[in-house]
Amino acid sequence: MFIDIICGARPNFIKISPIVRELQILEKKAKNNILFRIVHTGQHYDKSMSKSFFNELGIPKPHINLNAKSGSHAKQTSEIMIRYEKLLRKNKPALCLVVGDVNSTLACSVVAKKNGIKIAHVEAGLRSGDMNMPEEINRIVTDSISDIFFTTSLNANKNLLSEGKKSNQIYFVGNTMIDTLIYFKNKLIKPKVFTKEDLRKKNYFVLTLHRPVNVDNKSNYEKILNQISFHCDGRKIIYPAHPRTANNIKNIKLPKNIIVTKPMSYLEFLFLIKNSSAVITDSGGITEETTYLKIPCLTIRKNTERPETILIGSNILIGNNVNRLKKYLSKINAKKWKKSKVPQKWDGITSKRIVKVIHRLLSNNV
Ligand code: UD1
Repeated sequence: MFIDIICGARPNFIKISPIVRELQILEKKAKNNILFRIVHTGQHYDKSMSKSFFNELGIPKPHINLNAKSGSHAKQTSEIMIRYEKLLRKNKPALCLVVGDVNSTLACSVVAKKNGIKIAHVEAGLRSGDMNMPEEINRIVTDSISDIFFTTSLNANKNLLSEGKKSNQIYFVGNTMIDTLIYFKNKLIKPKVFTKEDLRKKNYFVLTLHRPVNVDNKSNYEKILNQISFHCDGRKIIYPAHPRTANNIKNIKLPKNIIVTKPMSYLEFLFLIKNSSAVITDSGGITEETTYLKIPCLTIRKNTERPETILIGSNILIGNNVNRLKKYLSKINAKKWKKSKVPQKWDGITSKRIVKVIHRLLSNNV
């Protein structure tokens, strides 16, 4: 009896790493061990988007790589589904563990469910209410067919209960992304750009923007970058760009103090944000990391599926009126940011809780 651990995109690797480590610890102790198979869908495939994460986070080489690669959402999702179904025809796990909200999460959960395999969803119950985001559709579909829900917040429990899930299916365990951050926080690596650009601690900004709504329209993209550049008090803004965004950047006029780099490795990126004055982003996961590190964070989105990063964390939603950036960047420049707290159970032992539950469920035949 074994479980499948599905991963495909950059944030997935960060989320599965502590779960795999926990399973390996049990394997070494030959105690309560659970056999597992890591299935990489191939959604992210560049070395900087995939292999570097496996190397740095010490995740063993995937047992299976479905090599689905890029394409439209339908093409990518269907390619993963066809390939995962072929794999399941040969060998079926007792449980399929999926994480997060990417296309790989949705594709593999649908295939597993139709093959009679139970699904455990890590980071279940997050809802932005914005059906224009592919991730929201992925979350809702995955949760609609999952059997076990591991959540990062009590708000996610509430969302699941309101959708008719039973309380004995839901486990509020905390955040595996924060497990990874806590495990590696003393092993961070100074990226080359730090020395090259002569950066000083707490005297530069970090920017990540990759969502189509922010980067696909040239004039909107330029407006956002100009606002940030103009109101950052002359400081440098380091922008590690996703391969998809790198193409958009070629077509715009980039302000001088915005320095674009290739995607960074996990340990380099965390070093960069930990030492920054603030982070400006449209990512969800990064708002959790900045909340844990208590670094001011401005999110260029209209909504968030992670309200705790706003309610008690260090994050602020800018919305789609980028003129609001001025107000919040001035606060950061004046070092007047809100006092924030780390959410409950974001304590580094979430994966232990998850593995304990899985062991109990498997012992009872799920
Ligand atoms: C995906 C997730 C998003 C997550 C992001 C993190 C979905 C719907 N979206 O978005 O939630 O925040 O990962 O990084 O699953 N590409 C490469 N090399 C790679 C991977 C991608 O060049 O290794 C390029 C391809 O041209 C591809 C494009 O990036 O078409 C987009 O990749 P894709 O996996 O479709 O979505 P992301 O934007 O990465």
